[in-house]
Amino acid sequence: MRTPIAAANWKMNFGPRQAEQFIAAIREPLGAVSGAEVVLFPPFISLDSAYRAIQGTAIGLGAQNLSEHPGGAFTGETSAIMVAELCRWVIAGHSERRQYYGETDELVRQKTLAALSADLSPIVCVGERLEDREANLAERVITTQIRGSLGGLPAEAIGRVVVAYEPVWAIGTGRAATRQDAEDIAQLIRALVGEQYGQGIADALRILYGGSVTAANVTEFVASPHLDGALVGTASLRPEFVDIARAIAAAKTA
Ligand code: PGA
Repeated sequence: MRTPIAAANWKMNFGPRQAEQFIAAIREPLGAVSGAEVVLFPPFISLDSAYRAIQGTAIGLGAQNLSEHPGGAFTGETSAIMVAELCRWVIAGHSERRQYYGETDELVRQKTLAALSADLSPIVCVGERLEDREANLAERVITTQIRGSLGGLPAEAIGRVVVAYEPVWAIGTGRAATRQDAEDIAQLIRALVGEQYGQGIADALRILYGGSVTAANVTEFVASPHLDGALVGTASLRPEFVDIARAIAAAKTA
């Protein structure tokens, strides 16, 4: 049984004060969700206040990015070891990082390796652009991203990797993928991981859907046996995220 995940990617929203206030407003109901791992991903500058605000709850914490380097002269960067002081989780290769900051599959792979070496659980994101889907290239793009981002990881740590399928055209657009599309890609991802790491690892891999997830549509996705939760952006900035987390837990305990 794969424990489902409700992940809140705040992106560049909520500074330290706002993070504290928002968590104070939702910590009781969110902390009471059982049957799902609930994880918040605030901006770096808000991690410490979020860390304090979640104390005494089962809510988890993660960073939205990390450096591929272990430390040293990299102005503005944050290493996996530093993230691990406050967090158990980290996102690697979000499409906004790929698109606006030039992150390649190889860089995402190095970040994933760095995360694993610091005992973090990375959520590795993949997803095709609209033009890829329209040209019928979605499967090819996802195959390249999975092979490139997840190649050569240590077998003993691969069990900590989570994959998020987030089609770029569905992110922040209000136009979520269909359950069928998300399921098809999830099955492809599982098969590719199976080729690389064996059936046991593939069966245990948790795969999330992300892209315009709301309380109204989340159940449609997580009712699928192929999807193990959601990575939520816009709706995670609202108390609605509590309903989303509850719906994810309910779908998997039903
Ligand atoms: P969205 O973002 O829920 O606003 O579409 C999802 C994500 O980018 O992780």
